[in-house]
Amino acid sequence: MITKRSLNENLLQAQYAVRGPIVTRAQQLEEQGQKIIYCNIGNPQAFNQRPLSYLRQTLSLLEYPELLRSPATMKLYPRDIIERAKIILARHPDGIGAYTQSTGIPFIREAVAEFIRKRDEIPANKDRIILTDGASKGVQAVLLALLQSPNAGFMIPVPQYPLYSASITLFGGKEIRYYVDEESSWQLNEEILTQSINKARSEGVRPVAIVVINPGNPTGSVLTNDNIRMIIGFAEKHHLSILADEVYQENIYDKNRKFLSFAKAMHDLKAAEIPLFSLHSVSKGFLGECGHRGGYLELRNISDEVMSEFVKLQSINLCSNVAGQIAVYLMVSPPTPGDESYETYIGERDAILSSLKSKTEILGSGINQIEGMSLNMPQGALYAFVRFRLPPEKDIDVATMNPEERLAYESKRDFDYCLALLEETGICVVPGSGFGQLPGTLHFRITFLPSHDEIGQLVVKLKEFHENYIRAESVTS
Ligand SMILES: Cc1ncc(COP(=O)(O)O)c(C=O)c1O
Repeated sequence: MITKRSLNENLLQAQYAVRGPIVTRAQQLEEQGQKIIYCNIGNPQAFNQRPLSYLRQTLSLLEYPELLRSPATMKLYPRDIIERAKIILARHPDGIGAYTQSTGIPFIREAVAEFIRKRDEIPANKDRIILTDGASKGVQAVLLALLQSPNAGFMIPVPQYPLYSASITLFGGKEIRYYVDEESSWQLNEEILTQSINKARSEGVRPVAIVVINPGNPTGSVLTNDNIRMIIGFAEKHHLSILADEVYQENIYDKNRKFLSFAKAMHDLKAAEIPLFSLHSVSKGFLGECGHRGGYLELRNISDEVMSEFVKLQSINLCSNVAGQIAVYLMVSPPTPGDESYETYIGERDAILSSLKSKTEILGSGINQIEGMSLNMPQGALYAFVRFRLPPEKDIDVATMNPEERLAYESKRDFDYCLALLEETGICVVPGSGFGQLPGTLHFRITFLPSHDEIGQLVVKLKEFHENYIRAESVTS
C-alpha cells in the first residue's frame, strides 16, 4: 500500500483554500439537511446563472450534428446558429470528438487574435495563441516553463488566487509575495514591489516573473491605467516576464474604471522587450461556463524558439478539450447585429452584468454597515475581500510572536471564525489566510453570485453572527 508519505512532497505541501476544509464541512452539513449558501467560489452556473442561449445552442448542434438534418431543428434554433454550426463543421470537419492541433483549432486561434485586435487596436498573431483547458492550465504552463531552476521566483500578489501559490509549490519554485494595498482599493505599490523583490534576491531567489490579476481575485479591484504602466516599468527594470491574469475582464461594475489589457498598455508604451503571458477564460465574465474548461494563453515578445517549447509542453497533453475550444470561439465571436440570435444574446448578457452590479451594491453597502467589518466596494470580478476585526485574546501577545507563529495564529483565528459562521448560519466563505493577508488583519472572501434575496438575508445573518461572535470572544478574552 502506498501511504500519504509515499506521495510527492510538493503535492503534500500545496494548499488550496477555495476548496479546503470549510467547504468539506459545508458539504457534510448539507448532507445532514442544513441549507448552505455557498459563497466560496466563483462558479456562476452553480448559482442558477443560465447559460447563454447562443453558446449552448451552437454547442448542442456540434455535439450531435445529426440535428442539422432534422426539420425540427429549423423550428427550434435561430437561423444564424444553424449556419454557424455548419460553418464550424465545414472548417473543422473532424467535429468535437477528435484531437486537434496541440495549440488548438487554427480558425479559433485566428478568431482569438481578431478579438484581441478589435479589443485593443493592436496587432495579434494566431500563432502566439494556445487554447487551454481553462485559464488554470495556461497559468500552469507558464509557471512550469519559466521555472528554470528551483531558485526561480514568481512575484505573486497577497492576497492572491491560490492557483498561483499552489502551482508554484507543486512545481517546486519560489513565491515572492507582494502585498496589494487595501488602503488604495488594492492597487499595486512600487515601493512594496521593490522591497519584496530586494528581499527575495537577498535570500538567493532569482525573480523571473510578476503575476498580476486584473480585475482582482479575491480583492474585486480594477487596476488604474497608471498602476498598470507602473507595473510594466517595474518589470522592465527588473527583467521580469509579466503573467497577466485577465479572466475577469468583462466583470467591471465601477463606472470610473475601464479594463486595460497588459497587451494594449505594453504596445502603447512600446515595451517590446518584456515577455507577456495573458490569460482569458470562458469561466467568468457573463458566460460563466466554468464546466466547459475553455481558455486561452496569448504569448507576446517571445522568440519562435521559446514558442516551440510552449507548443511542445501543450503537445504533451495532446490538446485542450474541443468543446472548451468551441466555447472560446463563441466567447470571442458572439452574435452580431442582424443575426436572429443577437437580441437574445444582448438581453442575456446585459441582464447578467446588471444583476451582478446591483448585487455588489447590496453586499458591499450591507457589509460596510456592520460594525467591525469593512470592504472596498468591488469594482470588478466576482468577489469582495471583507476585513473584520476581533478583540485581542487574553494572555496572547502577537508582538512577541515570530512571523511564522503570528501567521499560524492569525490563520487559525480567521479559520475558526469562518467555520463558526458556517456552522451557525450556513454561509460558506473562504478565510482570508487562504489567499494571504497583511499581518495584523483578518478577512474572508465572499462571492456576490447568490440571488439578490439570498444576499439580503446573508447580510442580516452576517451582522447577527458577528455581533454574537464578538460578544463571546470578549467574554473569554
Ligand atoms: C484569477 C483567476 N484566474 C484563473 C482562474 C481559473 O479559471 P479557469 O476556470 O479558466 O481555469 C480563476 C478561477 O476562479 C481565477 O479566479
